Amino acid sequence: MSELSELIADRHILVCVGPGGVGKTTAAAALALRAADEGRRTIVCTIDPARRLAQSLGLQALDNTPRRIKVESTSSERRAPELWGMMLDMKSTFDDMILDMTSPERAQQIFANPFYQHISSTLAGTQEYMAMEKLWELHEEGRWELIVLDTPPTRSALDFLDAPKNVTDFLEGRFLRLLLWPYLKAGKTYLKAVNFGAKAFLKVATKITGSELLADVANFFMAFEGMYDTFKDRAKRVHELLAARRSGFVVVSAPQEASLREARYFVQRLGAEKMPLGGVVMNRTHTVPATPGLEDPRRLAERARAAGDGKVLAPALDLYASWREISLREEDAVKAALGDLTEVPVWRVPDMADDVHDVPSLRRVAEELLGPLPPMPPRKTEPRNTAEI
Ligand SMILES: Nc1ncnc2c1ncn2[C@@H]1O[C@H](COP(=O)(O)OP(=O)(O)OP(=O)(O)O)[C@@H](O)[C@H]1O
Ligand SMILES: [Mg+2]
Repeated sequence: MSELSELIADRHILVCVGPGGVGKTTAAAALALRAADEGRRTIVCTIDPARRLAQSLGLQALDNTPRRIKVESTSSERRAPELWGMMLDMKSTFDDMILDMTSPERAQQIFANPFYQHISSTLAGTQEYMAMEKLWELHEEGRWELIVLDTPPTRSALDFLDAPKNVTDFLEGRFLRLLLWPYLKAGKTYLKAVNFGAKAFLKVATKITGSELLADVANFFMAFEGMYDTFKDRAKRVHELLAARRSGFVVVSAPQEASLREARYFVQRLGAEKMPLGGVVMNRTHTVPATPGLEDPRRLAERARAAGDGKVLAPALDLYASWREISLREEDAVKAALGDLTEVPVWRVPDMADDVHDVPSLRRVAEELLGPLPPMPPRKTEPRNTAEI
């Protein structure tokens, strides 16, 4: 059994992380589908999936609600897989979290605040934070044996792990409150009352959020008074859940240098944070194995041309040479980036001829990663809430 099959058979949470556009959503959906095909009740929480993929999974509605995805079973002996899916709606997750943390009246006050409306959808790191918050909710619901979390296209690998701290720091806003203090004390709602410090703050706030509504900002922070600790506690328990033995991070990367640099950084950062790394999915690879007798295809092409076979054999050899060079370049890049991290497994998925946008193509990705579907084991009964913190 490869280690990846262990991950999807035994873990309670899998998080697909990595640089933008490399196939995080695809990998998350393919792993979730395979787990469901293997008989585990699984949910995949996706973030901005490509439209065709969302459509074929029946996830067009962005309503933050888990839905059962209709998937045909792979054979008549197997039951239809229990695959669930949802698309993260950052704004309603934030709203739900506030509702959960405070009285309905205060929550309404916060929702109505234009500054809140602005930051709840634009503040850097909010999407990452909300993905983690959703993960906690899904975990708490206890309905799924496996939760696969897709993550947003982060600017840098650091953003995902740092997001809760950044957002909490911002909301806690020590330095903002310090600057705002004279303003809050004066209780005035017009700019005339703003002293030099608050004006400096205004500049910062404008830079951070583009908002110029100082009164809204002040009211927002007043409404949040007393909630900072709750925010921190929640960020902490999600961190603990992610670090739990039954969680696992899957770093997704493309076999190109820039992407690999980030993947390496992610692997190291997860190690430094004592987060459980599962391994690396190397997506969209081009593997052309060495062929005995074709060690130097360019020279053979030259020879073929010289011998008058320039129409079929020479171009075929040139084509082979080009793909073989791409393959070697990718292998070198992977080795240079991850070669010294010998304990980290790397699983490869070839670049497919078409987008991965439906159940059959997701199953193909899963087969590349895990091999054919294993025979059905006798069904285990798992406790409802299985993560160990
Ligand atoms: N192995 C593959 N072969 C061919 N196409 C692929 C493969 N993996 C992913 N794709 C395609 O690449 C595109 C990007 O993939 P995906 O949306 O999964 O990336 P992502 O990392 O989630 O992107 P983002 O960072 O924007 O969220 C999609 O159109 C997907 O169908
Ligand atoms: Mg994505």
